[in-house]
Amino acid sequence: MSKTIGLIAGSLRKASFSKKIADALLLMAPEGYTFTTISLEDLPVYNQDFDDDNKVPESYIIFRNTIKDINGFIFITPEHNRSIPAVLKNAIDIGSRPYGKSVWEGKPAAIFSNSPGSISGFGANHHLRQCFVFLNMPTMQQPEVYIPEVNKLFDEEGNIKNKDTKALLEKAVGAYIKWFERNAG
Ligand SMILES: Cc1cc2nc3c(=O)[nH]c(=O)nc-3n(C[C@H](O)[C@H](O)[C@H](O)COP(=O)(O)O)c2cc1C
Repeated sequence: MSKTIGLIAGSLRKASFSKKIADALLLMAPEGYTFTTISLEDLPVYNQDFDDDNKVPESYIIFRNTIKDINGFIFITPEHNRSIPAVLKNAIDIGSRPYGKSVWEGKPAAIFSNSPGSISGFGANHHLRQCFVFLNMPTMQQPEVYIPEVNKLFDEEGNIKNKDTKALLEKAVGAYIKWFERNAG
């Protein structure tokens, strides 16, 4: 049966570079795999009262069920103030609760960070790894994926212009699939 890999871009921005990377990765799914993008729209900021008082927003239910059915994830994260964008942390928190019912549990992950700058979201990349240690998500170590100058990467149609970066992403996706096969429960 085909395995599903979720592509999660940590941005809500219409013209997000992270979303464009996720769209480019959609075309790189190998045989036997389906890649799907996961939207972080419409997720209210996490408040434990929603779970404790049985007033869980509909969008949380949909999001948690979606994540539950997915076998592994590639996170494409920008960096906000040297860390993870709040929208991405919020989504991770929502999926991690109620306590003991995390929908992330054991799912193999990879992190591709990016930035218009040259440091490529290094801080966000490693803060995200810290979350995944606690969430028990085996996270690909190598290759590390840091995408600098992401604002220069795409043409008008959203295609990756730079052949080397495209090849790097294809190689990273191939490595992730091997990682996934070794680590999926
Ligand atoms: C609140 C905020 C903080 C930011 N902090 C950083 C940062 O620490 N490092 C960095 O490289 N870029 C930073 N940026 C710039 C983002 O890399 C840039 O806006 C990027 O396009 C966001 O990703 P997206 O295109 O996927 O929306 C910041 C942007 C915002 C809005």
